[in-house]
Amino acid sequence: MKNRQIDAAWIYHNGTKHSYQSIRDNPHYLDFDNQPVPFKIYTELEPIALPAHLSSSGMPSLSAISALAAPPDRKPSPTNQTLAEILFLGAGITRRRKYPGGEMLFRAAACTGALYHVDLYLVCADLEDIPAGVYHFSPHDFALRRLRQGDFRGVVAQASGAEPSVVEAPVVLLCASTFWRNAWKYRARAYRHCYWDNGTIIANLLAAAAARELPAKVVIGFVDAAISELLGLDPEREAPLSLVSLGCGAAQPALPSPSLIPLVLQTQPLSKREVDYPAIRAMHEDSSLESADEVVQWRAASASLNHVQEDRSTNGRRRVFLQAPSDVDMPSDTIEEVIVRRGSTRQFAREAISFGQLSALLSRATRGILADFLGADEALNQLYLIVHAVDDLAPGAYVYRQDLHALELLREGDFRRQAGDLGLGQDIPADCSVNIYFLADLDRILARFGNRGYRAAQLEASIIGGKLYLAAYAQALGASGLTFFDDDVTEFFSPHAAGKSVMFLIAVGKSVKRTSQP
Ligand SMILES: Cc1cc2nc3c(=O)[nH]c(=O)nc-3n(C[C@H](O)[C@H](O)[C@H](O)COP(=O)(O)O)c2cc1C
Repeated sequence: MKNRQIDAAWIYHNGTKHSYQSIRDNPHYLDFDNQPVPFKIYTELEPIALPAHLSSSGMPSLSAISALAAPPDRKPSPTNQTLAEILFLGAGITRRRKYPGGEMLFRAAACTGALYHVDLYLVCADLEDIPAGVYHFSPHDFALRRLRQGDFRGVVAQASGAEPSVVEAPVVLLCASTFWRNAWKYRARAYRHCYWDNGTIIANLLAAAAARELPAKVVIGFVDAAISELLGLDPEREAPLSLVSLGCGAAQPALPSPSLIPLVLQTQPLSKREVDYPAIRAMHEDSSLESADEVVQWRAASASLNHVQEDRSTNGRRRVFLQAPSDVDMPSDTIEEVIVRRGSTRQFAREAISFGQLSALLSRATRGILADFLGADEALNQLYLIVHAVDDLAPGAYVYRQDLHALELLREGDFRRQAGDLGLGQDIPADCSVNIYFLADLDRILARFGNRGYRAAQLEASIIGGKLYLAAYAQALGASGLTFFDDDVTEFFSPHAAGKSVMFLIAVGKSVKRTSQP
C-alpha cells in the first residue's frame, strides 16, 4: 500500500516549498505562446444546454456558508434547474473582462492564476429531467456533455468503499484536475493547487447546496483508478480529487453497473505542447487508494484516532473571545448575490475592519465541514492570524482557538512589513487588515491517513479558505488567496507553530476599489 509510505508526502511537500532561495535560484518565465486553454472542451460531444436562469434561494450568505446538517424538510433529488444553479455557483463563469488581445473569463470560485484546471463531472440516477449518466460540466457554454449513458452510481459507490452518503445519493459531483492547466505557471507546486482550487469550488458548492436544502458531503476516500476510468481521465495528465454527494434517499444503485467500456473522447489540445512534472504524478500516485478494501480500512483508521486535546490554559497568553453575532448586524445578502460579486481584491486600503466582522468571518467559516475525513468538531488545520488593523484588537500575531471561539495573542506588534515578506513580497498581505494562515501538523495527519492525509489537510484548509472568501464578500469586505514562503511562516508563528506546515493563506480587508467608489 503506497499510501502508507509517508516519505512520499514529505518529499513532495519539502520539494515544493517556496523560500527566498528557491525563488531566486529557480526563476520561471511564463511562455504565453504555450499557455493552456482554461477549459476541457470535448470536440465531438453534443452540448446539453443547462437552464441559464439563476433563481435566488433567499438564504443569507452567512447562513449558507455555515450550514452543516441537512434541514429536516430536505428535498432529496435535485432537478435540472437545481443542478444548473449549483454548478454555476461552484464553477460557472461569473465575470468577463476584455483586454487587448483577448477576454478573461472569471469563475465563481477563486483559482490560482485564474487558470481553472479543475473540472466538475456528475454521475446520476434517472432524475426528473436528466437521464441517468456520467456527464461533464462545460462552463464555457454552460452545458453538460454526456460521457456515458446509464446509471453508473454503483461504480462510484463501490470506489468509495460504500460511503453511505454516496450510496444513497441521486447525484455525485466529481472534481478532477488537468495538471498542465495549472503547472504551466506553477510547475510541481500545482499539486497543492489542485486541492487549493478544488476547496474554493467546494466551499461554493456546499453553500449553494445548503441554500437549496440538499444534503451534501465531501468524500476523498475512493479508489482513484476506478474514478479515473469512469470519467475517462488520462492518468498521466489528470486526476480525480474529490467527490461531493448531493441529495439522499435515492434507490441504491444496481450492482454491478453497466460495464465500463474505455472512453475514447477527443478533447481540444490545451496548448502547443505540454510539460510533464513527475513530482505531481508521483504525489498523486503515492496518495492513491488501490482497492475498495483499502478505502474501507483507510476510513476506519481515520475515524478511530483521538482528537488532540487542546491545552485549555492560556500559558500566559492574552485571550480575546470572538464577539457574539447580533442578528441585526448580520448582512442579509443572499449566497447567490455574494458568489456573483466575489472576486479577489487586487488592492487593499490600509483600513480597519471591525472586530464583529472578524468574529463573523472566523465563526461562520469554521463551523465544520461534512466530510468523510473529519469527525464532528474536528479540524486538521489550526488558524494563525497576523492582525494589522481590526478595531478593538491589538495588532499582532494570534492563534485561533476554535474550541473556545477565542484568539490568543502570540506576539503584539505591527507586522505589515513581515506579512508582506512572508506572502512572497506582495503588497496584498501587507495592506490588508488581517492575514489568515492555515497550519497543519503533518506528522500527525500522515500517521493517521497516510499520504492521503496531505490531500485532506490541503482540502480542509482551502474549503475553509473558500468560506472565508464568501464570508468576507458577504460583509462587503475584500479577500484574496495568497502564496507564501513556507518555512518562514512557521518560524514567524513559532514556538507555538513549531513543526507545523503551512497549507493555505487568505488576506481579508477593505478593498481600495470599494472604499473609494462607494
Ligand atoms: C489559493 C489561492 C492563492 C492565490 N494566490 C495569489 C497570490 O499569491 N497573489 C495574487 O495576487 N492573487 C492570488 N490569488 C488570487 C487569484 O489570482 C484569483 O483568484 C484569480 O485571478 C481569479 O480571480 P478572482 O478570484 O477575482 O475570480 C490566489 C487565489 C487562490 C485561490
